[in-house]
Amino acid sequence: MAEDDNSIVSGETQGQEEKQAEFPLRPQTLKEYLGQNRVKKEMAVYIKAAKKRDEALDHVLLYGPPGLGKTTLAFVIANELGVHLKSTSGPAIEKAGDLVALLTDLDPGDILFIDEIHRLAKPIEEVLYSAMEDYYVDIVIGEGQTTHAVHVPLPPFTLVGATTLAGQLSAPLRGRFGIVEHLQYYTVEELEKIISRSSKVFNIQIDPQAAHELARRSRGTPRVANRLLRRVRDFAQVKGEEIISFKTTTDSLRQLQVDDEGLDQTDRKILRVIIEKYHGGPVGIRTLAANTGEDVETIQSLYEPYLMQNGFLLMTPRGRMVTEKAYSHLGLPLPNK
Ligand SMILES: Nc1ncnc2c1ncn2[C@@H]1O[C@H](COP(=O)(O)OP(=O)(O)OP(=O)(O)O)[C@@H](O)[C@H]1O
Ligand SMILES: [Mg+2]
Repeated sequence: MAEDDNSIVSGETQGQEEKQAEFPLRPQTLKEYLGQNRVKKEMAVYIKAAKKRDEALDHVLLYGPPGLGKTTLAFVIANELGVHLKSTSGPAIEKAGDLVALLTDLDPGDILFIDEIHRLAKPIEEVLYSAMEDYYVDIVIGEGQTTHAVHVPLPPFTLVGATTLAGQLSAPLRGRFGIVEHLQYYTVEELEKIISRSSKVFNIQIDPQAAHELARRSRGTPRVANRLLRRVRDFAQVKGEEIISFKTTTDSLRQLQVDDEGLDQTDRKILRVIIEKYHGGPVGIRTLAANTGEDVETIQSLYEPYLMQNGFLLMTPRGRMVTEKAYSHLGLPLPNK
């Protein structure tokens, strides 16, 4: 992370304030969960079928950029199934015993949610294989002469894994998920609905044109939309505005350095570094990380996907390259070929 990071889109800067603010904004049911229509439709069928058979839902892998609603969806699935959800994350599980303790504590049909599942340590991942496939784990206990293997049966459970970097998941782990769902960036219309829902939760009013502008500049991401809404609300409150106006919205976005395309200063820094130091690319991810002060994973999971989706950046076999659109967006002259 950069020291001066007040980046509006970075998931890593999520502080306590935001975690608290996000909580009441979390939809509880599939119906309240806006957008991702294909995913919702599929999940509704799988959930219904599992309930009908009175079986645990097949293991689910949710992947996509930060802030698109993976954690939210995991809780929605548990809620729709009427089961408990225990939550942990890849880096939090240090020993195989930690994982076994979590698994043996589940009731039949419950969900174990593992966030950042691509960051699981290899020996722990291996324990998951038999747990996922046949609901048991073999663990070795004792030391020296007294070492012996213990076969531990588990309740039928559902593993819900979430990751921003599905490519980093090993093939054996990935293959054990019966349901794999890719969350996509939201459309402007979907984000407008999310903003409208959030403003009701916050008990504030926002002009429809202002809501549209916020949605347009939220990088297809509900977390960013909610974050911008909270910031714009602050500006409006200071001005004593009862209904958040379009002008206050655009003024605050300017202040927050979110530009007309929804890019923030880190997005622009990434493009600028490639243009000014590497003649537009190609440049490797590590070089880019070192030159922007961002970490590799943040660039890969958060910044790049959006810049690529919107035609600012291209992935080539030799590295990342900026497009002509990037030059014109930054107001920089194209290099002479
Ligand atoms: N489909 C949705 N409808 C309404 N609000 C949503 C939706 N998806 C996400 N949100 C909102 O966006 C916020 C961020 O979502 P969430 O924490 O689930 O994202 P995530 O994909 O788990 O992110 P990360 O990769 O950083 O863990 C939530 O607090 C929620 O308010
Ligand atoms: Mg999450």
